[in-house]
Amino acid sequence: MNQAIAVVGLGNAGLPLAAVIADRGIQVVGVDVNEKRCQLINEGRNPIPQEEGLGDLIKRHGGRKLLATPRFEDASDCRTFIIIVPLFVDQSFNPDFGIMESAVRSVGRVLKKGDLVVLETTVPPGTTEALVQSWLAESSGLDSSDFHLAYSPERIMTGYSISRLREFPKVIGGRDEESGFLAHQVYSSFISNLHLVSSTRVAELIKVMEGCYRDVNIALANELFKIAQDLDVNFLEARQNANHQYCHIHLPSTGVGGHCIPVYPWFLIKEMEKREGFDNCRLLRTARELNDDMARYWAEKILLACLHVDRPLSLVRICIKGITFREGVKEFYHSRNLVLAKILRDKGLDVYVCDPLLSPEETEQKGFRYLSPEEADVVFDPFAISFEKPGDAG
Ligand SMILES: NC(=O)c1ccc[n+]([C@@H]2O[C@H](COP(=O)([O-])OP(=O)(O)OC[C@H]3O[C@@H](n4cnc5c(N)ncnc54)[C@H](O)[C@@H]3O)[C@@H](O)[C@H]2O)c1
Repeated sequence: MNQAIAVVGLGNAGLPLAAVIADRGIQVVGVDVNEKRCQLINEGRNPIPQEEGLGDLIKRHGGRKLLATPRFEDASDCRTFIIIVPLFVDQSFNPDFGIMESAVRSVGRVLKKGDLVVLETTVPPGTTEALVQSWLAESSGLDSSDFHLAYSPERIMTGYSISRLREFPKVIGGRDEESGFLAHQVYSSFISNLHLVSSTRVAELIKVMEGCYRDVNIALANELFKIAQDLDVNFLEARQNANHQYCHIHLPSTGVGGHCIPVYPWFLIKEMEKREGFDNCRLLRTARELNDDMARYWAEKILLACLHVDRPLSLVRICIKGITFREGVKEFYHSRNLVLAKILRDKGLDVYVCDPLLSPEETEQKGFRYLSPEEADVVFDPFAISFEKPGDAG
């Protein structure tokens, strides 16, 4: 059972997983097309410094128990292949399987009879059995019954990946009973809180469902917040007292950003649309639209705040205190805070950014000028959803 395991994709999700497996004394061959990243890892240097605990693991195992390589042939002795590469959506929110197909086909080219392949990338339910299986069969020349196939969604959270992998429940489901059993056995050697579910489709849906739950509940909080504002009710006070064991109202926001939550509902919406099941995904679609509209909502609030400043509107200096998609994470994918700053700039307003994670030079690279909040007339903190100047204009 202690055979080498290949982890394909050593990114924000794959590298912590590879490091945790290596830390259990299992030999890991990490395959990533990014040669520079592989070199860093083999030198014991951590390419994701913000990930707590990862630095120590890479220092200890990089180049030893965790060997990184851009060549798939280096993993040809492995009997288990875990694939965790990105899946993006195009402008119409349809999944673009390009990266995943390339990684899966490369695995197929070194696959042997009896090997196990586990996909961890979050995908529309049905993907593992419909697409991954046929890509593997085609590229390996094997019959699909000659290899085992399973799905186990990555449920980490950037910054806390190591503790999540060690403690958080992880699910795994096989294409058939044998695949499920084998995958559960292999994963049990490095994941302690592991749960076998009945199929790959169940495991796939579990991860997408979580994203939908978050998106819909954030949309609910945003809607209740807007209603409370109209009713002149203190939302935070109401929320604090409304929340209990059976009620958890989230905090309002500028919307939902990042690679995950704003993307996963589309997997189901698009699938339902394909099946002409429009009525089955009305809530998911509305939640998406509502959350996406929050940047425009806050832009209007900021505009109103500017009107309270005793200066011509175009000369009011607005400072947005963060353009990353989430506080403390230097990522901009689907960042609604970045969208908010752009909406204000496109209105011809004098917009500046002071993001605690960005230097003035990096701020300029994102298309904004830096200004310290003390020098601004209107200061909006998108993470606290509050105005710091000129008072509570919201
Ligand atoms: N980052 C997170 O917090 C997170 C959380 C939960 C789930 N996930 C899942 O993990 C997936 C991957 O996300 P990530 O954050 O690790 O992405 P990432 O962009 O940080 O890393 C992806 C890595 O894959 C490599 N890669 C690309 N094509 C390849 C190929 N053909 N062969 C080998 N390597 C290849 C890239 O060089 C990169 O290092 C996501 O799509 C999502 O489904 C991520």
